[in-house]
Order: sequence, then C-alpha cells, then structure tokens
Amino acid sequence: FIPRGGGGGGGGLPALTKAGDQVTFKSWLDSHQVGSRELVQGLKGDATYLIVDDNKQIRDYGINAVCTHLGCVVPWNKAANKYMCPCHGSQYDETGKVVRGPAPLSLALAHITDNAGVVTFTPWTETDFRTGLNPWWK
Ligand code: FES
Repeated sequence: FIPRGGGGGGGGLPALTKAGDQVTFKSWLDSHQVGSRELVQGLKGDATYLIVDDNKQIRDYGINAVCTHLGCVVPWNKAANKYMCPCHGSQYDETGKVVRGPAPLSLALAHITDNAGVVTFTPWTETDFRTGLNPWWK
C-alpha cells in the first residue's frame, strides 16, 4: 500500500494535467518541444508553468502563473520572451521576475523533483534567486 501524496507529506505534490492525470517526465517531454511553457496544476491548485529548456529537460522549478496584482492567470508571450498579464499590463521576465507593474511582486516559484518519474512540486522556501529576498509566498 502506497499512500497517495496529499498535502506534501515529504514527497511533494504531483503536477496534474487539466484532466487530473499525473504528469510524468517522459510523457511531458514526448509531447512538448524545447522552449515550451505550458500550464499544469501545481501547489495549492495554482496554475503553474512547466518549462522545457534547451537541453530538452524540464526546468527544475515551476513558475506560478497567478499574477501578483489581482490574480489573473498570466500567459507566456513567446515573441516578447515575457509573461504578460492581459488584465492590467504587468510583465514578468522569463524567470517570472516582475519587470513592469502594477504587479508588486514576482511570480511565485516551486521546486520540481522527480518522484519515480512523476513531475512533483515541493514548496520553495529559501531565498528567491531573482531578488535575493525571502520568498513572499512562504
Ligand atoms: Fe495582472 Fe492586474 S491582475 S496586472
């Protein structure tokens, strides 16, 4: 008997597709190109970007897509190489760092680990490498 992960009992929470299926590294990389940034369900149920980097690996952190202004889900704009919020124009660079308001804060981060092949989120609790500050979402 293997208990299902729930609430992050050490193992974190699996990334889920819109259909509610667990995302595996293999299935994601089989169906997503280098440079893709697509949403899955992450910690607390928040829409979170999985990024496929140039080395054809899933980046080891996910970027929470919930705008820090008033909570719209922020789309990735490939041409501009930024996340651009359609609601009030906030912009975030490719790491999710805020580069234009009115959003006051950068997008939240979550670590990604490999749990028996399943893409798994764990909370990011240490320094935000983009700002050098403690994470505001902790
Ligand atoms: Fe994103 Fe206002 S909710 S800019």
